[in-house]
Amino acid sequence: MLTAAVAALGPESSAYLRACLQQSGLVQSVAEWGVSADQYPAPGESVPDMVLLELGPSAELCFAFSAHLRRLRPSVCTMVCSAKEPRPEVLIEAMRNGVREFLGQPLDPQVLQGAIERLIQEHGNGSGQPEEKLVVVMGSKGGVGTTTVTVNLGAQLAQTGDRRVLLLDLGRPIGHASLMLDLQPRFSVVDAVENLQRLDAHFLAGLLTRHESGLEVLAGNSNAELWAKLSARALSRIVNVAQGSNDFVLMDLGSVYPWEWNVALKSARMVMVVTEANVPGLWTLEKQLLALTASGIDPHRFRVIVNRWHKADEETLKSVEKRIKCSIYARLPNDFRQVSQAVNTGAPLSRNHNDPLTTKYREIAAEIAGVAIESKPKNKPLFGLFSGRS
Ligand SMILES: Nc1ncnc2c1ncn2[C@@H]1O[C@H](COP(=O)(O)OP(=O)(O)OP(=O)(O)O)[C@@H](O)[C@H]1O
Ligand SMILES: [Mg+2]
Repeated sequence: MLTAAVAALGPESSAYLRACLQQSGLVQSVAEWGVSADQYPAPGESVPDMVLLELGPSAELCFAFSAHLRRLRPSVCTMVCSAKEPRPEVLIEAMRNGVREFLGQPLDPQVLQGAIERLIQEHGNGSGQPEEKLVVVMGSKGGVGTTTVTVNLGAQLAQTGDRRVLLLDLGRPIGHASLMLDLQPRFSVVDAVENLQRLDAHFLAGLLTRHESGLEVLAGNSNAELWAKLSARALSRIVNVAQGSNDFVLMDLGSVYPWEWNVALKSARMVMVVTEANVPGLWTLEKQLLALTASGIDPHRFRVIVNRWHKADEETLKSVEKRIKCSIYARLPNDFRQVSQAVNTGAPLSRNHNDPLTTKYREIAAEIAGVAIESKPKNKPLFGLFSGRS
């Protein structure tokens, strides 16, 4: 991931450029500077891998800034955003002062993304690959427990070693995650989609509703227009900003979503597919895994979760594992009474270690977070973290 800074003419363009950088998913930090000489970084101050400069009325000032940055750090990459097509002599002057790219304004986030990707190809990726923080949860079909799994996993994950966890509710036709957590959100995913121009980590944080477990929720919506507006590209931009400021991003994708969104899911750390162990659930699971594979998602990222599991399902599940060539990642026991009560009171499952369902959620959360959890009784060894799930 690269480090970056923006030097813009005013707070509005600075916020826009920062949002574009954060939405690229390729930079880990964005500093903000002004373009006047008194705001230049001083010798000894750290200069990031790349700097986005807004070209003002004085090209000289902008290029002097670029030259100054090069003196402080010869490998810095400066890109200039300009509302006007630069004249050839301006371009030559820019090159002399170490400007690498001229980008049109208003800046197209996709053009910026391309420029950063070229930079990474040539000079490497700063401090390494972007961390994979996105965990997608989808249902093999409707009603199998996708939202129950997402909110409970999210609540457990948020309590596992102080992780910052964001739940992105994309359930259709209406997201139920806030309801299941008894939250009254003021904003929803619609506000993120409608404000993509200024969606940076700070703006996104203002749209979230915090649950007492620590889980932050970007609430879902029933707005039909939203789905038309939320292209795969827009979804990636939201996810990139969310990943930039959280340790994990859990996405409740429901079971019906535009197929082109699969492009945005390719970078997911895991794609959890929730099913029940009945014929419609398992039949659709098989078709869905094939289709996800065909759309380019790496099958190693699939995690099949059998919800409302009974011991009697085992025979069937063994043959399913052979057919789908993927072992079941987790079996979540059927516990209608406890889950219904939790759903109706708007509280995540929270029983103690003796409860098999809550324990299972805790185990999955601990495995995702990469931490050990206490097994019962307390003086026994810790759970083997990466042992096969039952
Ligand atoms: N482990 C479980 N044991 C018993 N019942 C469960 C369990 N998990 C979920 N349920 C029940 O399954 C029903 C559906 O759950 P949920 O709303 O999470 O499904 P969904 O897949 O998100 O549905 P939709 O497709 O409508 O979004 C709920 O009534 C819930 O109480
Ligand atoms: Mg749901």
